[in-house]
Amino acid sequence: MNVLVIGSGAREHALCRSLSLDPAVTALHCAPGNAGIGEVAELHQVDALDGKAVSALAVALGAELVVVGPEAPLVAGVADAVREVGIPVFGPSKEAAQLEGSKAFAKDVMAAAEVPTARSYVCTTPEEAAEALDAFGPPYVVKDDGLAAGKGVVVTDDLEAAAAHAAACERVVIEEFLDGPEVSLFAITDGETVVPLQPAQDFKRALDGDEGPNTGGMGAYSPLPWADAKLVDEVMETVLQPTVDEMRRRGTAFSGLLYAGLAITSRGVRVIEFNARFGDPETQVVLARLKTPLAGVLLAAATGDLADLPALRWSDDAAVTVVVASHNYPDTPRTGDPITGLDEIAAEDAPHAYVLHAGTRRDGEAVVSAGGRVLSVTASGKDLTEARERAYKAVARIGLDGSQHRTDIAAKAAAEA
Ligand code: AMP
Ligand code: GLY
Repeated sequence: MNVLVIGSGAREHALCRSLSLDPAVTALHCAPGNAGIGEVAELHQVDALDGKAVSALAVALGAELVVVGPEAPLVAGVADAVREVGIPVFGPSKEAAQLEGSKAFAKDVMAAAEVPTARSYVCTTPEEAAEALDAFGPPYVVKDDGLAAGKGVVVTDDLEAAAAHAAACERVVIEEFLDGPEVSLFAITDGETVVPLQPAQDFKRALDGDEGPNTGGMGAYSPLPWADAKLVDEVMETVLQPTVDEMRRRGTAFSGLLYAGLAITSRGVRVIEFNARFGDPETQVVLARLKTPLAGVLLAAATGDLADLPALRWSDDAAVTVVVASHNYPDTPRTGDPITGLDEIAAEDAPHAYVLHAGTRRDGEAVVSAGGRVLSVTASGKDLTEARERAYKAVARIGLDGSQHRTDIAAKAAAEA
């Protein structure tokens, strides 16, 4: 199978890594990619938001499957453009991607499908926002309606800060605060059949101890030893299948990856958000544990054949990923700094630990930083403790001036396991 992956983050590197290990994949392309992806796939320049350009590239390469990684191209309709030229594509249509593209739309779908989520108001004026903030009380949860790369959400006890964030957005969703640990559960779907993957946990805040601003995600681990064994079945029944059924009922069937961001509250599981694509960095740890070759799974979702897919096979190993971010991330990150230690990790720590690239590019012989999240250092082990040790040992070999990473990824879960 000839596969083209669209995107350039650590999630796309994880996808390309898994695809490159799949014997069914005979040619692997990525556009635009990054320095690390270039080692496992042939890179091509493309404007990932331009459906015509992406579909033309897919045709020119003879791609038999296109996998769209990030949300922005999906919301821009890139999957539709590829489908129009007759190539199977893993990723939802523009309309279905509104599950991620608009928080208000997602709330509407959840209400219709009776999916448990935080009570919320959609507000467009400061007066409406003030009323909603008053109705819920602190801690306040204020979400920009549109796409914001995980950074459009403010959770604060400070009423003024909450009102200011609401005023800075055109349309906001203000909602009830959900307590309890968060879980990311991904499901692959062809619009009808839903196949859940293994749950993972992400670390959204920039600093140790869940302090500091929200980010795109600073690390992740899987499995979750503390989670109820029935969690996946419960979420399938109360969240994933009803949402997929409701989208189909509306005539906007959702195919691709449905990502449920969940809070396990004292009153039960609640949806915090939906995403319309693989999560980053959770994908790095989920795919590290998937034993079934990936290409056939993604193709079955793209062609509507998931019902015939044999059950997925999973490794008993645990996986941990630690994100190494640029100086000043998530504010304006500094880029262009040289990265060292990558060869040492490949020589000393592989195959248990390896580096997935996010914001990197080649500069002659050197690899330099090119974005906020730079690397996602991923490791497997017999349990979370071993996976953590391996991941952090590899992180310690990396040289990147001014870089930052959390030191507590999976620490609590490993200690309690
Ligand atoms: P979202 O972009 O909706 O996933 O929000 C980003 C992060 O903000 C989530 O991962 C949570 O940590 C936090 N958050 C969002 N909604 C809520 C909520 N209703 N209650 C508590 N925390 C929330
Ligand atoms: N890990 C959070 C996200 O992918 O949105």
